[in-house]
Amino acid sequence: MKQDLILLGRVLSFCASPFAPDGPEAAVEEHEAIALRAGKIVALGSRAALSKVLPEAEIVDHGQKLIVPGFVDAHVHYPQTAIIASWGKRLIDWLNTYTFPEEMRFGNPAYAAEIAARYLDLTTACGTTTVASYCTIHPESVDALFEAAQARGQRVVAGKTCMDRNAPEGLRDTPQSAYDDSAALIQRWHGRERLIYAITPRFSPTSTPEQLEALGALWTAHPTCLMQTHLSEQLDEIEWVRSLFPEARDYLDTYERYGLLREGALFGHAIHLEPRERARLLEARASLIHCPTSNTFIGSGLFDMNGLMREGHRIGLATDTGGGSSFSMLRTMAAAYEVAQLRGTPLHAAQLLWLATLGSATALGLQDKVGNLAVGREADLVVLDLASTPAIAQRATRAETLWEALFPTLMMGDDRAIAEVRINGQKAV
Ligand code: GUN
Ligand code: ZN
Repeated sequence: MKQDLILLGRVLSFCASPFAPDGPEAAVEEHEAIALRAGKIVALGSRAALSKVLPEAEIVDHGQKLIVPGFVDAHVHYPQTAIIASWGKRLIDWLNTYTFPEEMRFGNPAYAAEIAARYLDLTTACGTTTVASYCTIHPESVDALFEAAQARGQRVVAGKTCMDRNAPEGLRDTPQSAYDDSAALIQRWHGRERLIYAITPRFSPTSTPEQLEALGALWTAHPTCLMQTHLSEQLDEIEWVRSLFPEARDYLDTYERYGLLREGALFGHAIHLEPRERARLLEARASLIHCPTSNTFIGSGLFDMNGLMREGHRIGLATDTGGGSSFSMLRTMAAAYEVAQLRGTPLHAAQLLWLATLGSATALGLQDKVGNLAVGREADLVVLDLASTPAIAQRATRAETLWEALFPTLMMGDDRAIAEVRINGQKAV
């Protein structure tokens, strides 16, 4: 049997939502120690209590470092790893100029495997332990990511991107092949170890009504899968959707009318929403995924975190690699703070941390598995060094509270702040 492990440090657990009326700080409990066994969290508490429960355990002392849940990135495109930070375009031109030519390369399984491994290496170094990723239209691109995740024992959500129009030759499927290829991938991967399949129409402009209908039928046939797509990211995209679906009431309706709106639906961006769309998203218990570095980098707009949270929406946080300009959820928390500031509603450090962990996990329906440090959860965690650079350290020494000590790392931290990462209990960094 593998050795039990006790990690000492400042261990943070969520006991409530930091967006609840009791306030952000009431949502967090601090412990001295966390115990892991066979990939699960088995105890939290004082050092003495845990040593009594697990007298044989190996003990690793992280001192004043913070032990938090592994970050959950709820919307990424791993195939865009090599074109991240491409200059000067907005959404549609950016897709045509940078994204589609790169995605074309993923029919080659060796290239897909190389980028999948590179992507998971880069994100693990940033403390990300779970991602929900788009792949390309090639089933090989899905196999590559799931195989890499499986080798690392990692919980990953992914799916074959479906597009049957408004994409170049070589990057289009059909309603039937999208259905059949996705169904075969569900059969091969969904529910295997820690892997979850997401049915993935890229967005309404690149799917015909027939394809959206086929994918709605596929989701009905496989209801435990997730469904991920894009919604209302840029204004000219919304105009385009209006012209492609003249009979639809709004952008959301292009998904709703084909059975693609219910709990388990993940809508990336969701910036420019109509009142009817907000009401239906809430009623359906769908998830909205905020991608702040992408929204500023591609020039999309400012997500209404405060208003949507008050209405009661389920919201996750994500990099949107490579439309987003960073692989790091620390950088993404900083961007979420900045976007919220531009809307006049700053986010508390506890709220940012929750969005990057339990909030995103809840958006993916994984709140009972990952995203929190609680007994019975899977042992995915990050040890944060709150003094990882001279600039951060000199600021953190002035801090009088835990939150003041953490905030400079959320705003200024990078992979140097990630002292250790554990995936399924195993040391990954
Ligand atoms: N909308 C449709 N596809 C994409 C994509 O790859 N990235 C972003 N940011 N938006 C999209
Ligand atoms: Zn995206």
